[in-house]
Amino acid sequence: MNKPAHSHDDDRPSKGEEVGAPSDSNYDDVLLEGHEYDGIREYDNPIPPWLSLIFVGTIIWSVFYVVAINLGYIDRYEERLENDQQEIAALRRKAQADQTKITNALLAKAADTTKRVESGQEIFTSNCAPCHGQKGGGGGKIGPNLTDKYWIHGGELTDIYNTVSNGIEGQMPAWKSQLGREKVVDVVAYVRSIQGTEPANAAEPEGAPYTPDDQGS
Ligand code: HEC
Repeated sequence: MNKPAHSHDDDRPSKGEEVGAPSDSNYDDVLLEGHEYDGIREYDNPIPPWLSLIFVGTIIWSVFYVVAINLGYIDRYEERLENDQQEIAALRRKAQADQTKITNALLAKAADTTKRVESGQEIFTSNCAPCHGQKGGGGGKIGPNLTDKYWIHGGELTDIYNTVSNGIEGQMPAWKSQLGREKVVDVVAYVRSIQGTEPANAAEPEGAPYTPDDQGS
């Protein structure tokens, strides 16, 4: 693309060439009287149509804009800002709630809350019973007995919470993504509530015994 500096197919006149009138016959090329500065003169041509179109367009747009913004068809900056700030505040609250640490005390409190246990029972019946049995005894199903004191993955409340949350590779799905944190807490509360219930046809114990001593139950 290297053109010689003074190529003749360039629009600009080369050195020494006479400056000719524009070839466009739409223009009258009448010189504007009384307009001469340092030897520079101007033609009295109309501005090009595309430029007037943009000019008229901005005027029409301004009328539309003033009407539309006053009738509420266009969002105002303040409203959008307020909505977004509320959204951010909601996200912050949610993030904070998600960060409240799951502790044995928190889970023990949930296990003492009837509403939580009842909600947990519903969740258990529809999600867990197919593998752990209606009463959590596991007999005849693939899941282990959840009512005895033997645990493969730990019997502390936080252990149970982690097992249910994260699942067991190849054995049990992770429930946290499906149920969400609160419902996992509920179902753990329910599992705690069926400790020692000895349902009929329960599965043989698996894992190591766990005696809750510091959990007050
Ligand atoms: C697809 C079948 C299946 C479903 C559904 C299922 N589990 Fe399990 N779960 C298993 C199996 C299998 C194991 C034993 C894994 C092993 O042996 O390591 C297990 C283990 C567990 C354990 C650990 C037991 C221990 O001894 O440490 C807990 C607690 C548990 N499940 C709770 C639940 C809860 C609560 C649900 C419902 C939200 C649920 N499971 C749904 C199959 C399932």
